[in-house]
Amino acid sequence: MGSRMLHGEEAYSIAIMLLEFLDKRASGATIQIFGTDISAPAVDCARAGTYSETAVANVSPERLRRFFVKVGASYQIGKQVRDRCVFARHDLGKDPPFSKLDLISCRNVLIYMSGELRSGCFPSSTML
Ligand SMILES: C[S@@+](CC[C@H](N)C(=O)[O-])C[C@H]1O[C@@H](n2cnc3c(N)ncnc32)[C@H](O)[C@@H]1O
Repeated sequence: MGSRMLHGEEAYSIAIMLLEFLDKRASGATIQIFGTDISAPAVDCARAGTYSETAVANVSPERLRRFFVKVGASYQIGKQVRDRCVFARHDLGKDPPFSKLDLISCRNVLIYMSGELRSGCFPSSTML
């Protein structure tokens, strides 16, 4: 989705790409995405999964048709994607880490943190 910060778009975008990827393979794999943020309003906004016409301007017509539902003047993320995304409040610096994760994506998050907090979040060997 667009580059303006809209909560949930990182998780939903990854879910959409994985669903498309799995579509082409008969792997039977299922996916579960945890979208977390320290901010409760950000988590609520992500759960709502509703984006303006401007926000989805760069989403292809095919993806809009397949993965979104038009609600009035907005687009809401559809059930197929929503069912695979769980959102929760989580402070990267204080709360216990999640386990059994295959991929961690944190776009534009670590850049706001001090070096100490950043290296506390991830051992340096796991950073790409
Ligand atoms: C620039 S936004 C990026 C949001 C999303 N990753 C994206 O790319 O659209 C940075 C987010 O980091 C969250 N954040 C800041 N400190 C955090 C922390 N210690 N733990 C978890 N989230 C944090 C903020 O609440 C904010 O929503």
